[in-house]
Amino acid sequence: MSKKIRRRDFIRSTAAAGLVLSSPKAFKGGAPAVLIQGVKPAVISSANGNHFKNGGNETCVQKAFRLMTAGTDVLDALIEGVNILELDPEEDSVGYGGLPNAEGVVQLDSSCMHGPKKRAGAVAALEGVRTPSRVAKAVMENTDHHLLVGHGAQQFARDMGFTIEDDLNTKHSRELWLEWKRRTDPSHYLDPKSRAELWRREGLKMIREGLIREEHFYGTINCDGVNSKGEICGVTTTSGLSWKIPGRVGDSPILGAGLYVDGAVGAAGSTGRGEANLYNLCSFLIVEEMRRGAHPKDAGMEALRRIKANTIEKRLLNSRGLPNFGINFYVLNARGEHAGVSMYEGAKYAVCTDAGPQTLPCEALLQGKPD
Ligand code: GLY
Repeated sequence: MSKKIRRRDFIRSTAAAGLVLSSPKAFKGGAPAVLIQGVKPAVISSANGNHFKNGGNETCVQKAFRLMTAGTDVLDALIEGVNILELDPEEDSVGYGGLPNAEGVVQLDSSCMHGPKKRAGAVAALEGVRTPSRVAKAVMENTDHHLLVGHGAQQFARDMGFTIEDDLNTKHSRELWLEWKRRTDPSHYLDPKSRAELWRREGLKMIREGLIREEHFYGTINCDGVNSKGEICGVTTTSGLSWKIPGRVGDSPILGAGLYVDGAVGAAGSTGRGEANLYNLCSFLIVEEMRRGAHPKDAGMEALRRIKANTIEKRLLNSRGLPNFGINFYVLNARGEHAGVSMYEGAKYAVCTDAGPQTLPCEALLQGKPD
């Protein structure tokens, strides 16, 4: 191999040709690559990536896969996919009509990473723009930064030509917020401890009463794709935790937490309790596990074990002494192998390959339910 060909280019061109790379030990210093044998193009996402929206005839993963395999840049294809959910007024976990914060304001978080370009962008606590994933990409493409938040993120979006709306609530998200407010804030401000307990108790009651779906409490979509050239990208977008304290930012816009992509290794992203992921930076952990040779499923399970081990506060444990929350990871390596993993049984993930779209069960670390 010519000395002029840098290691990174060798990895990429070899991956594209579907050849076997050397073992992880072969590279001294820096981060070694995993074995890449032949790439099976795939797009994976949280289960909502396979829900039909707004009378459409394509799901998120179907659209992203179709565009990606027709030659669209992988990240552009993934963002087109998640835009379906962000723009859907009936999807109350993402974008327009996402469940608002404690003051009734929809604040959105998103991040994206482009493996081949080694670039990333994110926004947090963004108000007034239906498609935060597009603003995250604009941060990636037009700034020297990786994360813009709050008013600054909105001003940036305005400057980039995005439409800014006064209120991203729909009738549905506003009504649910009012119901939550009625239940939790009768005397306006309670002491922080009882307020947090009320928040959780009433939120869970609203889930049990069928007013909101459990996965929409922390509702999010993460979507990752790899094309036949081995180019891998990812995007995560969310309205975050329902009824959150204004300004609360979860894991979704944080690189290494809600999303991490290494173009030579793979991608990982998450849905579920963002605080557990922020503490452990699991997407980064998962990608590093894959770099050391782990299969996506084993890499994801390692992250779940880390979260379980680091969850010791009583308020976060159920009667069995186990985490009382759900969290899921979606993992794709640069060969197109994938997995969904979840803390508890019952979660699913979406995938689209040459064989068409499928919804598959996540591998669970623990049996039963969180509570
Ligand atoms: N995982 C989404 C959030 O915690 O905001």
